[in-house]
Amino acid sequence: MKEAEKQSKPEKEDFNDKTTFIIEDKKEKQSYSLDEVRNKVILGDAFEVLQKLEEKCMDMVFIDPPYFLQLPNKELKRWKVKTVVEGVDDTWDKFPSFQEYDNFVERLLREVKRVMKPNATLWVIATYHSIFRIGKIMQDLGYWILNDVIWVKSNPMPNWLGVRFTNATETLIWAVRDRNAKKYTFNREYAKSVGIGKVGANVWVLPLCWGKERLKDENGKKLHSTQKPIELLKRVLLTSTKEGDLVLDPVAGTGTTGYVAQALKRDFIMIEINPKYANAIIHRFKKPLRINRDTSISRHNVE
Ligand SMILES: C[S@@+](CC[C@H](N)C(=O)[O-])C[C@H]1O[C@@H](n2cnc3c(N)ncnc32)[C@H](O)[C@@H]1O
Repeated sequence: MKEAEKQSKPEKEDFNDKTTFIIEDKKEKQSYSLDEVRNKVILGDAFEVLQKLEEKCMDMVFIDPPYFLQLPNKELKRWKVKTVVEGVDDTWDKFPSFQEYDNFVERLLREVKRVMKPNATLWVIATYHSIFRIGKIMQDLGYWILNDVIWVKSNPMPNWLGVRFTNATETLIWAVRDRNAKKYTFNREYAKSVGIGKVGANVWVLPLCWGKERLKDENGKKLHSTQKPIELLKRVLLTSTKEGDLVLDPVAGTGTTGYVAQALKRDFIMIEINPKYANAIIHRFKKPLRINRDTSISRHNVE
């Protein structure tokens, strides 16, 4: 077995032990020391939890916020075969208006900026439904955009009605806290090896999360409607962090960020408001990820 393929083991934490891995945030808790929450999942509201963390402590932040897909309140059926489309119709994705969505994003980005080190970077991922709004808010808050990275999905969900293009991309905005930020981490050799073309352009082609990697609930349905692929987080982490860095994901879902961070020997802090997802993270961490560091679109061994 190649060195890179060896099973990575959780060294510092016992992820099987729910009581130490998950911290349930309580109103009366005023602040968290980094040692208390390092390599932990905090079950709570990101807006409250972030205020309890010390400032300028994170090396990198990854945010996969609600998409605000604004889908109609009815079942979407595939046109010819009449099967139901499993879209994102979760309550957490619903907002009464664009204004309320913008307020959510702005608050989150403000809180996150406070905890970023001066040379930390921030990634935010979204689809066309919200990425333009997010980009504007980021710039208004003083973030300095380094790149947008286009994720081209090699297995997108087709546009069943054929009334517009199949939407096969998501955009990641990669930014620093402000335009004067210096010495942020960019592993250009790795970036070259995964971006298209010789210079490693800002286009990543890789599939949606599927097969064994996709977490299922007790009825065999997708446990989370927007679980991100391990390969995507691997690229984010390997281009913009070093071993031992501290990575924050304030809206963690199934915990993909921390799961990959741990396999790559980065530390993490994850926050998730929904106990169902937090429990899924515990379950996921019981089987540590084996990850290849090569550049192929690998099939990760998630047993
Ligand atoms: C797009 S999903 C993240 C998916 C994740 N990247 C993954 O790979 O599974 C957004 C998540 O934000 C969580 N969320 C929404 N509002 C939150 C809040 N105020 N605090 C913490 N988590 C929140 C939702 O429960 C949802 O799981």
